[in-house]
Amino acid sequence: MNASARSAVAVCPGTFDPVTNGHVDVIERAAVHFDQLLVACLRNVGKKPLFELERRVELLSSATAHLDNIEIATFDGLLVDFCRQRDVRIVVRGLRAVSDFESELEMAQMNHTLADVETFFVATSPLHSSLSSTLVKEVARFGGDVTPFVPSAVNHSLRTQFAGKGTRHE
Ligand code: PNS
Repeated sequence: MNASARSAVAVCPGTFDPVTNGHVDVIERAAVHFDQLLVACLRNVGKKPLFELERRVELLSSATAHLDNIEIATFDGLLVDFCRQRDVRIVVRGLRAVSDFESELEMAQMNHTLADVETFFVATSPLHSSLSSTLVKEVARFGGDVTPFVPSAVNHSLRTQFAGKGTRHE
């Protein structure tokens, strides 16, 4: 790639079901380095998300409202197709631990092979290294307090979603 192809835009993709403080940390830190950061939310029917795509987008929008160079977008299918449509060549992903590395490396290599898309990794803050949307949902489902792990609107949505559905002692 020559210098004229340099990009001021990157995409930060994910399922964001729901967005956590770990995601927000990665988004904030990536946003510093690009003119624009597209946060791309995958519909991901395969994963049977807890929240509809529209709700995940609303929660992402409110969690990133303090950043002025973010656009929340949605996509279905291959990430590289979204990248092509939006003419973006850089993907940003957070790396929490070595356990993330293998699958992230596979995706990065595949995306590069498919479409010359480069992946930049942000090392997650140690504060968030054990945090995942899956764990947050599990804790919230059984009445645990996820206040430290998610933006307040997400916390509220999780409480509403699970109200009366789970108990700690089942
Ligand atoms: O938040 P997640 O679930 O860890 O994000 C994973 C995501 C959405 C980045 C990844 O699954 C993805 O890009 N899916 C789109 C389909 C695709 O392009 N698959 C091939 C990747 S090599």
